[in-house]
Amino acid sequence: MPVPTGGRILGLETSCDETAAAVITGDGRILANVVSSQAELHARFGGVVPEVASRRHLELVIPVTREALGEAGIELAEVDAVAVTQGPGLVGALLVGLAAAKALAWANHLPLVPVDHLHGHVASLYLQPERVEPPFLCLLASGGHTLLIDVAEPGGFRVLGTTLDDAAGEAFDKGARLLGLGYPGGAAIDRLAREGDPAAFDFPVARVPGLDFSFSGLKTALLYAVRDLPEDELERRRADLAASYQRAIVRALVRRTHEAAEQTGATKLAVVGGVAANSELRAALPDAAFAPLPLCTDNAAMIASAARYTDAVPLPGYLALDAYASG
Ligand code: KG4
Ligand code: ZN
Repeated sequence: MPVPTGGRILGLETSCDETAAAVITGDGRILANVVSSQAELHARFGGVVPEVASRRHLELVIPVTREALGEAGIELAEVDAVAVTQGPGLVGALLVGLAAAKALAWANHLPLVPVDHLHGHVASLYLQPERVEPPFLCLLASGGHTLLIDVAEPGGFRVLGTTLDDAAGEAFDKGARLLGLGYPGGAAIDRLAREGDPAAFDFPVARVPGLDFSFSGLKTALLYAVRDLPEDELERRRADLAASYQRAIVRALVRRTHEAAEQTGATKLAVVGGVAANSELRAALPDAAFAPLPLCTDNAAMIASAARYTDAVPLPGYLALDAYASG
């Protein structure tokens, strides 16, 4: 929805294990971007526990919103629209953000803009000061999704390819778990891989037809490699395993992205989502525009950004909005 240049959008994001609130201006300047990660809370379970996530969002959503408004130096009365992630994600977690957003909008007579989380990731590219202008071919790689999409204009996108099983971030997380690196594991593999030899192990990635991805076989290959190594040897070769595993994921992502660019004739590439923070991926696609590091993983600034290109739902319609788990 068009918010005036100087107008302010309050964004909320609670689709997974980050409770986030942000304030941006109508022209895409970030005034505040607060992210409270629950990663530590879920680490001992080795992954996100949906019920635990929902309860934590409930505790955090108002304090995080207050903090964002405080950081932006504004009162709720100075907000022009409320944006919130409607899906895809964990339904219980999404409902916390959605209910909070409805209440904030209703009590302050504001329009409510329901935002698709994936559109949000793409819209991380539309924020200042490094706005990326469509058209571009976008690789969206996160913990829940791996998509190749054609972005013709800021309001939407067309899916060209997706993962048939695990998402790239999920592959990083499962690999990290096998290597005893904890949850979430993408950043930990990224760090450890720097000390390892990426050619030490041969981890092939399945080639599936079209522009789709498949990562589940890779995780099994790592499982076998880990299982076959004696304990002391495993400790010694962990960095090599991390480097080889990361290389296989990055290769698969880069190869498919180049194939998609060839097929569509796209000359501009962009990469978003948590895995866009990966240093090897960033180095492997030197000509691509990457979302700024703090905006790769889940945040609410990207949700508020997407709201600028999404229709608001008027009162009382928005009170009936429901969350959706998958896209
Ligand atoms: O976008 P995001 O915060 O959440 C979803 O929408 O899923 O992405 C989180 C994912 C996790 O799987 C995490 O391991 C991965 O992004 N990730 C990374 C890195 N930083 C985060 N993967 C590889 N390298 C990184 N540096
Ligand atoms: Zn995400």
